[in-house]
Amino acid sequence: MPDSQYDVEILNVTKQFGETKAVDDLTLKIERGKFYSFLGPSGCGKTTTLRMIAGFEDPTQGEIRIGGSNVEGLPPYKRNVNTVFQHYALFPHMTVFDNVAYGLKQKKTPTAELGKRTLEALAMVRLTGREKSFPKQMSGGQQQRVALARALVNRPQVLLLDEPLGALDLKLRKQMQLELKTLQTQVGITFIYVTHDQEEALTMSDYIAVMNAGKVLQLDKPEAIYERPASKFVADFIGESNFFSARVKSQEGQRVVVDADGLPNVQAVSELALGNGTQVIVAVRPERILLVREPFEGMPNQFRGRVENLVYTGSTTAYQVRLGEQALFTVRENNVGRADAASDLKVGDQVYAYWTQENARVLTG
Ligand SMILES: Nc1ncnc2c1ncn2[C@@H]1O[C@H](COP(=O)(O)OP(=O)(O)O)[C@@H](O)[C@H]1O
Ligand SMILES: [Mg+2]
Repeated sequence: MPDSQYDVEILNVTKQFGETKAVDDLTLKIERGKFYSFLGPSGCGKTTTLRMIAGFEDPTQGEIRIGGSNVEGLPPYKRNVNTVFQHYALFPHMTVFDNVAYGLKQKKTPTAELGKRTLEALAMVRLTGREKSFPKQMSGGQQQRVALARALVNRPQVLLLDEPLGALDLKLRKQMQLELKTLQTQVGITFIYVTHDQEEALTMSDYIAVMNAGKVLQLDKPEAIYERPASKFVADFIGESNFFSARVKSQEGQRVVVDADGLPNVQAVSELALGNGTQVIVAVRPERILLVREPFEGMPNQFRGRVENLVYTGSTTAYQVRLGEQALFTVRENNVGRADAASDLKVGDQVYAYWTQENARVLTG
């Protein structure tokens, strides 16, 4: 029965290649008109999941629905989806116009409509006027835009993109990320974007599905993934985190007090109800730690340490600070207002590290 809320539903899907379980009992529902990213390390099953949606691979188990209908056995060209790959494989001997119009020509679209839709698609990717160029006369970024236009011209319900910017240099990639997000908002088509680059996923997505070992570990908005990672893997993969083991001492609602070696009475937060004595991991982001020379009077959550190393990177400075008996903590300061010289710390200096309760998250796995 067609369901209007979700464009794609992946229901308990497993994909086995011989001994390898590329996708492991994965369930994921993709809302219409949103920008989704599948984010995870190489080999975690992102491409395989995308290829099953596109129809290039069949699930070993489970069901995939597009627009509410089971697509089992439906070949790729009969699915209302299009894919853009990293290696876009334009036809080198064809003009930009013919490359983009190719799909419509195959479908015997009347000439007038073909012309109109091709020019519209080229306008969407800001290539109006380049109809007669050949791919080799264009930059990598422009060629990738042609590949996008070639997919968009079919007016798919869902556009699948597999690391499409992977071959571009960093500056161009950042520019194209913003363009892609704008384009998605304008056309309103559901985008599913595969990447192993966390910054890219944070920049573009309405929702990020963080994957590892064939499973989705967390599906949420970028801010929620960053601020409230559900596991150590997610906290580590998206952004940087300091981790330490601790035992729960007390809890009141989301407010938890834990003890760690050399760090007594650390105030942290957790959405889970934890029993006293539970072994946990606490994660604190480097940029959420404040270093001061003298402790604030009467404030909890201040820990004495020593600067062991510092790395200046232009916009930020990363300090490595040993706190209590714990391993080194990384503390990242933005180099704004350095003119006041408040953060002029040197290796060997004694410091106090402080963070607010909300910035220490208790993780259980
Ligand atoms: N056609 C295939 N045959 C055998 N193993 C495959 C095939 N495609 C993918 N795999 C394996 O499945 C796992 C997931 O691969 P993939 O989906 O390409 O990961 P990702 O895109 O996240 O890097 C990997 O271990 C990979 O080696
Ligand atoms: Mg891949």
